[in-house]
Amino acid sequence: MDGKSVELSGVTMVFDGFTAVSPTDLSIPAGEFHSILGPSGCGKTTLLRILSGFQRPSGGQVLIGGEPVNHLPANRRPTAMIFQSLALFPRMSVRENVAFGLEARGMSKRERSRKAEELLALVALEAHADKRPDQLSGGQRQRVAVARALAVEPAVLCLDEPLSALDLKLRQHMRTELRALQKRTGVTFIYITHDQGEALTMSDRISVMNRGRIEQVGTPTEVYDAPATPFVAGFVGEQNVFSGKVTGIENGFAKIAGPGGTFTGRATRELSVGEHAVLMVRPERTGLVDATTLNGNRLSTRVEGRELEGPYLNLVTRDATGRRIVLHLANDGRQHPTGGDAVIGFMPDDAVVMPAAGGTPENGAAGMPAAEAAVAEAGLAPMGA
Ligand SMILES: Nc1ncnc2c1ncn2[C@@H]1O[C@H](COP(=O)(O)OP(=O)(O)O)[C@@H](O)[C@H]1O
Ligand SMILES: [Mg+2]
Repeated sequence: MDGKSVELSGVTMVFDGFTAVSPTDLSIPAGEFHSILGPSGCGKTTLLRILSGFQRPSGGQVLIGGEPVNHLPANRRPTAMIFQSLALFPRMSVRENVAFGLEARGMSKRERSRKAEELLALVALEAHADKRPDQLSGGQRQRVAVARALAVEPAVLCLDEPLSALDLKLRQHMRTELRALQKRTGVTFIYITHDQGEALTMSDRISVMNRGRIEQVGTPTEVYDAPATPFVAGFVGEQNVFSGKVTGIENGFAKIAGPGGTFTGRATRELSVGEHAVLMVRPERTGLVDATTLNGNRLSTRVEGRELEGPYLNLVTRDATGRRIVLHLANDGRQHPTGGDAVIGFMPDDAVVMPAAGGTPENGAAGMPAAEAAVAEAGLAPMGA
């Protein structure tokens, strides 16, 4: 099997005046595991349906392997799709499910059977070929769906939240399997998910999508450590958020002054002095510090809650202004009882500063700067929550 590249150029989708996908450009090289990550309703499925030919776009071009495919229906594109529901045929055996698409391609019965065996071996289900789907575990059914989709030798496999029905343990196991399968086959995978953990562990690159727009395309490390927008910063992982006015910019670092003090972080975007900005730092890069260390980036808080996760201890603290700050600490046996004092701090290198004018005004909850609202919307409590 061979993967093909996918290119979207100005692809747009408007439903009755509602823009589900704003003009989008995206270039995915052949053989890449590419995830489209974003919250429910942001336009992920619509984008995938356009790509695979189930939805005609309002505008723009789709190219697969460099060839325009806008005029081709789904069954004539070199794509296959796996839906969340899997849609296996309940009365057919596993082997018949996998071979289903091959008959329509004029393959002889013997060839179909041989091909099905080969695919079942690929997903390690040879021993289960004669079972019906309801005799399989959730993970095995998942693998049947993958084998069936690969049977038609697609160059691009589109997967729409295929793991969301599985329990956590199995989901984590299937991440590794799907990733390995993608590398083994060389097929381009376009994988939709709202789960940042899935996107970070499986992907070569991730497109982070919000309200019909791709806000950033990058490797897992890039979107996690150098988020392009407040939304990306908040949606991919957790952040502690500090807001304030920019008081200085030097050597790529910005200083902001806000409630509780002055804080410094990497200026990842264009900033000007006097501008409203947010500084964000990850809970695992926020630590307990000696009150005398660090120049700034230090804050007195009180421990409000603790959560032991075996090797890790998550501490929730609050400062005098009511700001909530979360720390993920290695469990070194210290207790950090609730109600106790904690001085927290972080290195400027571990924090990013970006303009607060990240979202549009209508996104903003009342009285909240747009960037903080974007972070809150992405699933995090902003300061004061
Ligand atoms: N056929 C349709 N007609 C009208 N609105 C639609 C249609 N399909 C999707 N939408 C809307 O487009 C937006 C994006 O939907 P979708 O692509 O399914 O999001 P996601 O997969 O990210 O959850 C949603 O607001 C949804 O209600
Ligand atoms: Mg969807």
